[in-house]
Amino acid sequence: CKYIIGVDLGGTNLKAGIVGRDGNILYQFSIKTNAHAESQVISHQICELIAGIIKNVRIEKSDILGIGLGSPGLIDKKGETILFSPNLSKWRDIPIKKIISDTFGLPCILENDANAAAWGEKWVGAGKDVSSLVMLTLGTGIGGGIILDNKLWRGINNTAGEIGHMSIQTDGPLCNCGNYGCIEVYASAPGMVRRFRELLESGKASLLKKDEEITAKRINEAAVQGDGASLSIIEETGRYLGIAIVNIIHILNPGAVVLSGGLIGSGELLMRPVKRTIEERVLKASYKDTKILFSQLGTDAGIIGAAGCLLKELEISA
Ligand code: BGC
Ligand code: NA
Ligand code: ZN
Repeated sequence: CKYIIGVDLGGTNLKAGIVGRDGNILYQFSIKTNAHAESQVISHQICELIAGIIKNVRIEKSDILGIGLGSPGLIDKKGETILFSPNLSKWRDIPIKKIISDTFGLPCILENDANAAAWGEKWVGAGKDVSSLVMLTLGTGIGGGIILDNKLWRGINNTAGEIGHMSIQTDGPLCNCGNYGCIEVYASAPGMVRRFRELLESGKASLLKKDEEITAKRINEAAVQGDGASLSIIEETGRYLGIAIVNIIHILNPGAVVLSGGLIGSGELLMRPVKRTIEERVLKASYKDTKILFSQLGTDAGIIGAAGCLLKELEISA
């Protein structure tokens, strides 16, 4: 039996897993990411995590086909080096693909995290039955992955799909990318927390208190319990996402838009305003056959997708 190691570097967690050729995860492990650590520290953590997994699962090196790494940020044309990542401040200019393949003597691919997740959903998740899909990963940042006619769309510089940096407000707040009013500033987990705090400052009552640690997860939970402030923040998040998705549908007319990440924990509370906003604003003929779906792979999409990308690469070069 042959396996792939899939690694998913996020702004909050660094996860790795052993993935079968059928896309099932046999074992996984995760640690916290230090988002502001030096590149060398992060790359060292990645290699330690991979080494730990190989040791724990006790599989032979010869049974591992290779390693797929999904990372936030823009990757160079050759797919070897991380150039810039808005939410991992010092994660840049590091030839992480070579570091991993030299360390383990195995083939490695480096893919944008959301591109990897999109490929995972297409391979064995919510996108199995469509030939074109757009993935939105909602977390510390907002990632995008675009699959057109069964292929990941990379653009001329391998940087296509940075949907989180679609500006939806010309004079909105400054984003970590340097642009203003990006959808990421509003609908990422930190964006939601910021808007929630602003709402409390303005005097709105809530189950959550100003001095407690507020996270997107807490807001989701409070909303499910009927907390008015949390409900209105989720409603607003859905509207922002709906507006971004209208733009995506108008440009690409995809078969599906797939939403993933911690923020979808609020389920229908988020989906309703998303769909309502789309219906209010979209060109009807463009939206007729597009499905808006939640991810099927959930928080595993990154690991599975990174592994799937490695497999795809090996098949192409075989
Ligand atoms: C980055 C993307 C990444 C996304 C999710 C964004 O801020 O620009 O490259 O895919 O966050 O991690
Ligand atoms: Na992307
Ligand atoms: Zn931005």
